Amino acid sequence: MTELRHRSAVSPLRRPVAGRWAGSRGVRGTQRLPLIDEVVRAHAPDEPMHCLRPAVLAAAARSFVGAFPGDVLYAVKCNPEPTVLRALHAGGVRHFDCASPAEIRLVRQLFADAEIHYMHPVKARSAVRSAWFDHGVRDFSLDSAEELEKIVAETDGAPGLGLFVRLVPPKAETLYDLSGKFGATPAAAVELLRRARQVADRVGICFHVGSQCMEPDAYARAIRLADAVAEEAGVAVDVLDVGGGFPVSYPDITPPPLSAFMDAIADAFAATRLAAGGCRLWAEPGRALVAPGVSLVVQVQHRRGDMLFVNDGVYGSLSDAGAPGFRFPARLIRLDRSAVPEQAPFGFFGPTCDSADRMAGPFLLPADAGEGDWIELGQLGAYGSSLRTAFNGFDQARLVEVRDRPLLETPGYDLVAVAA
Ligand SMILES: Cc1ncc(COP(=O)(O)O)c(C=O)c1O
Repeated sequence: MTELRHRSAVSPLRRPVAGRWAGSRGVRGTQRLPLIDEVVRAHAPDEPMHCLRPAVLAAAARSFVGAFPGDVLYAVKCNPEPTVLRALHAGGVRHFDCASPAEIRLVRQLFADAEIHYMHPVKARSAVRSAWFDHGVRDFSLDSAEELEKIVAETDGAPGLGLFVRLVPPKAETLYDLSGKFGATPAAAVELLRRARQVADRVGICFHVGSQCMEPDAYARAIRLADAVAEEAGVAVDVLDVGGGFPVSYPDITPPPLSAFMDAIADAFAATRLAAGGCRLWAEPGRALVAPGVSLVVQVQHRRGDMLFVNDGVYGSLSDAGAPGFRFPARLIRLDRSAVPEQAPFGFFGPTCDSADRMAGPFLLPADAGEGDWIELGQLGAYGSSLRTAFNGFDQARLVEVRDRPLLETPGYDLVAVAA
């Protein structure tokens, strides 16, 4: 029989820039890391360059872990780069929300003692078995009776099982609504909780209000719904997982401070019967922990009017700048002469031949930006490199650790104090 070989669609981001800045120093060695402009000067990179700020990643984790009244699980899908995971670990993250066998293997390889939670509501049977028997995963999410029975069967009905019923939360003001695919209705969740309680040692309710949620009260509404569902089910619930969705700043978007989200969650939770029954809180942030910790440096290959052809695009790390219309903070890097002071709005074309490889922005840059210039795009630690494809052969990228400050601050996160 022909052997089925695994082939990764995308070259991993493991190609560091050459020379003395190549290796990972961990968070403690951050002061010796270079600035982005020094790396550009030394290497003149003509491939996209991912600039990781380990100290900023660790500081974001520290801010969130310090503020959240419960356990913090990092949503690995958001950015699975090992340097990123190590920095978050250094910032106090010990729990990981994984959604695939590859994510589970990666986290287990990096942190033998990490608590891994398999929070994808639809899983392959082999993935459930391997998570349970090979990697010590005990918690699984689900939103259907079929998935619940699948998990029970594939873990051989063994003791120690944790089952998390994913609930569709009330609508909220978010950039990404995540309720279209996963989540049980309140009525279905009631039945699932009752069944889960019969077979699991730990029972939880989880939800996701949507990514980049600008509304602290969205969490409060979802917590009240979860409480009502648990009451209707008439079973004890051990964990309430309020998911991800915590926002960061983008140009012209400043979210409410982290404390507004934490207060809304803590106040709403304190008023529930769940809390009175000893239930514990979890959160699964992705974007909020990693967005400010990574910038992407692209190079301009051509200018046509107010459109710049750059070497990364919507099939690479700038997926969110395409159809979702995200704008990222932009900074021109030009080494041989200064740029004009006037700023102008630009759009970008990515490197592939598809005319959909277009980013409207607008990205504000010096009006004379053109071929040969580099552009640092900030806030790209979340859903940047993790969404890259190999389309059209443009999958090469460089990786470097730097000590620059993030281009934007998000209220409530103490990131600048630790940066350069
Ligand atoms: C189950 C789950 N948890 C957490 C997250 C992280 O969300 P965010 O990056 O908005 O914090 C996601 C994102 O898709 C998710 O699907």
